[in-house]
Amino acid sequence: MDEMATVHSRKGRAPVDPKFYVHWRESLLQAVSEFDPRFNEDLKVAWAEALKKTTDYFTEAY
Ligand code: HEM
Repeated sequence: MDEMATVHSRKGRAPVDPKFYVHWRESLLQAVSEFDPRFNEDLKVAWAEALKKTTDYFTEAY
């Protein structure tokens, strides 16, 4: 996690402005919903929580 956060931080190799993470989360969730035949509401909530935690962590480290 720390390494990923560093790569996407201001001083990292691939800085990512935190404003983009909402779009990243929406896109990934959409892809999972389209391609995982077992996709359901529980899975959606679990993915959303995990992605939010991860991108919030990146944002703190930005
Ligand atoms: C808008 C969102 C994001 C954009 C535009 C983006 C863009 C990029 C780019 C351009 C690279 C290549 C860096 C290089 O040249 O080596 C990269 C690498 C990577 N990204 Fe992202 N990223 C985003 C979000 C995320 C998130 C949310 C995660 C984790 C959950 C993530 C994990 C990684 C990892 C693991 C690498 C490889 C790092 C390495 O080579 O050491 N990225 N990303």
